[in-house]
Amino acid sequence: MTNIDPRPSVIKERLKGVRRILAVTGWKGGIGKSVTASTLALLLARKGYKTGLFDLDFAGASDHLILGAKGLFPKEEKGLEPPLASGIKFMSVVFFSENKAVPLRGANVSDAIIELLAITQWGELDFLVLDMPPGINDAGRARWPFTKS
Ligand SMILES: Nc1ncnc2c1ncn2[C@@H]1O[C@H](COP(=O)(O)OP(=O)(O)OP(=O)(O)O)[C@@H](O)[C@H]1O
Ligand SMILES: [Mg+2]
Repeated sequence: MTNIDPRPSVIKERLKGVRRILAVTGWKGGIGKSVTASTLALLLARKGYKTGLFDLDFAGASDHLILGAKGLFPKEEKGLEPPLASGIKFMSVVFFSENKAVPLRGANVSDAIIELLAITQWGELDFLVLDMPPGINDAGRARWPFTKS
């Protein structure tokens, strides 16, 4: 079937200025993915690299707690510009969910992730760290827009 969703090609454009994407995954819950992703992003930023961190764990976003990122919100500028948290460009669903659980399942989770990827303006980055959801839930089985099927 022909894919008529324009967002995957928009995402490619949005990620053009990102030199490297590091996905922190583990296919299991509670094994330190978020701590690793956040610490990695903090260390890269401290070393002087332009760094972004994207919390893709919609069901259990926690990077904002690890970073102590309070009172932040993306700026609307031809899309959404991630705010700076400890020198890291930071994006998370908590900006929109007001700390409540996100009541999405299955294809709706993939859809929300694709939407956020399509509207986020990362600009020029040396590294974008992705905190991946545990592989055992719906989001872990999401159809990723970057993978060729
Ligand atoms: N290296 C470590 N040593 C000891 N405890 C750790 C380590 N890394 C993480 N933890 C602790 O383990 C718990 C789970 O860590 P974390 O939230 O990073 O895991 P996760 O894989 O992202 O979990 P989830 O699947 O719920 O998103 C936390 O309480 C965290 O403080
Ligand atoms: Mg986590």
